[in-house]
Amino acid sequence: MRIIMMGPPGVGKGTEAVILVKHFNIPHISTGNIFRELFHDDTEIGKIAKSYIDRGELVPDDITNEIVHQRLSKDDVKDGFLFDGYPRNIAQAEALDKMLEEKNWTLDAVINFQATDELIIERISGRRVCKKCGAVYHIHNKPPKTEGVCDQCGGQLIQRDDDKQETVLRRLRIYYDQTEPVIGYYKDSGLIVNIDGSQTIEKTNADIMKVLGEMN
Ligand code: AP5
Ligand code: MG
Repeated sequence: MRIIMMGPPGVGKGTEAVILVKHFNIPHISTGNIFRELFHDDTEIGKIAKSYIDRGELVPDDITNEIVHQRLSKDDVKDGFLFDGYPRNIAQAEALDKMLEEKNWTLDAVINFQATDELIIERISGRRVCKKCGAVYHIHNKPPKTEGVCDQCGGQLIQRDDDKQETVLRRLRIYYDQTEPVIGYYKDSGLIVNIDGSQTIEKTNADIMKVLGEMN
């Protein structure tokens, strides 16, 4: 299964991705997570990426596409993968097409999450992430068993630096300007699955599973 997940920041892509990759036993490729790990590991690319992320802007395409190219050359993607947050503009979608062509691979679905800006802002403002393992929580919708502590690894839960209100508004603007047009890019492919992201985590997952089941 080769899946792309698209949708505005904070709509729940990462949350649903974690459930799906477990079910399909495929790697979760989140460019955002890769950039955060590169920064955490004190790499040059991580530092460059963070300077864009903190402003709510897209990391330049040459860096992003190269990271994806390298990720797709690993062995574990042979039986499928799930992209979360890539491609994020038309140039990235074209670059991905080339990478897939080289490997003679085709996509199975482009899942497009939809929700209102109000809901997105509420979700992002309540989001907490584990500093150590990156697990994602929400203070009301998905609280950890102990406040401020990760259920999975005991790490400290923090707010992402790019989750400040002003940066979120910028990320949303960039989403509408640059990322939403990518839906148009895939319009004729028959791969787009529109999902109502405003439902509960479980209901959203059930909807995705139903549509994927009907497509295959
Ligand atoms: P990235 O990490 O991809 O961030 P994003 O796309 O802005 O999306 P988020 O991770 O903020 O939201 P999400 O949809 O995953 O929601 P989540 O599941 O956490 O990218 C960060 C930055 O990296 C970008 O701004 C850019 O600078 C750079 N970058 C990344 N990819 C790039 C690319 N391809 N090109 C260039 N630059 C790139 O959920 C949010 C909250 O809601 C959580 O608290 C969760 O618990 C809660 N929640 C989730 N689902 C539900 C539900 N159904 N009901 C109730 N609560 C829910
Ligand atoms: Mg995410």
